[in-house]
Amino acid sequence: MFNFFKKWKGDPQPFDIEELSNEEIKKGEIPKHIAIIMDGNGRWAKKRALPRIAGHHEGMKVVRKITKQANLLGVEVLTLYAFSTENWKRPKTEVDYLMKLPEEFLTTYLPELIKENVQVRIMGDKQRLPKHTLNAVEKAINDTKKNTGLILNFALNYGSRAEILTAVQHIATDIKTGQLNDSDLTEDVFSSYLMTNSIQDPDLLIRTSGEIRLSNFMLWQLAYTEFWFTDILWPDFNEQSLLQAIYTYQQRGRRFGGI
Ligand code: FPP
Repeated sequence: MFNFFKKWKGDPQPFDIEELSNEEIKKGEIPKHIAIIMDGNGRWAKKRALPRIAGHHEGMKVVRKITKQANLLGVEVLTLYAFSTENWKRPKTEVDYLMKLPEEFLTTYLPELIKENVQVRIMGDKQRLPKHTLNAVEKAINDTKKNTGLILNFALNYGSRAEILTAVQHIATDIKTGQLNDSDLTEDVFSSYLMTNSIQDPDLLIRTSGEIRLSNFMLWQLAYTEFWFTDILWPDFNEQSLLQAIYTYQQRGRRFGGI
C-alpha cells in the first residue's frame, strides 16, 4: 500500500546495457519535433578550468552533431534554445561571444547544412540582436529556404512570456480593428499568433545538465510534450544521448488527456 509513496526512479534506462542504433530507434515512432534546452556549457568548462566561452564553443560543435543525427533519424523540426531574453544579464564578454556563435556556426557549417537539405530558421525578438548576428542568420535562412529536410529552428533572444504577450497584443488589435471576431478565438487561432505558427508543437523536450525547469521556453507549445531531463552537460551530449531520449519517448504512452 505504500508503493504509492515510493520515489519515482525515472524512466527505464536500458542504455547501460547496450548501445542503441539508428536502425533500432527508427523502428519506433520518431518525434516529429524535438526541442532542446542546451544547458551546462559553463559547468563543463569550469570542470576543465577553462573559461565559460570554451564551453559554449564546444556546445556549438554539439549543435552540428545533433542536427546531423536528427536529420538522419527523420526528425522534422529541431528547436534549440540558443539565447534567452534573460541571457542579456550575463557579463558583456560572454554575451558578445554568444552573439558571435551563430555567425561562426553558420560560416563554418552552412555549406554542409545546404548539402544535407536542412532549413535554418529563428524565433525570438530580432530587434535586439547585433547586426552581424542577424545578417549571418538571415543569410542562412535565405540560402536554405528552399530546403525540404530538417527545420533547424534557433530560439535566439527568445522568451515565451514575451511571445505570448505579443500575441495577446496583436489579437487585441485585430479584434479592435475587426480583423478578428472574439468568438473565433480558438486555441488554433491563438497558436497562429505565436512565433511557431508554421511548425507543430514539440513532441519531445530535452534539457541537459540536471536542471529541471522550463526557463521561459515554449510555455504554450509544451502543453502536451514529453520531457526528458538528463544530467549530461550539453558539450558532452552526443548521438547516443539523443537516441536514449528518443528511446525513452517511445516507451511512454501519450494520451493527450484521454485514457
Ligand atoms: C546554457 O549553458 C547555454 C547557453 C545560454 C547558450 C547555449 C548555446 C550553445 C550551446 C551554442 C549555440 C550554438 C549556436 C550555433 C547558436 P550555461 O552557460 O548556462 O551553463 P551553466 O549553467 O553550466 O553555467
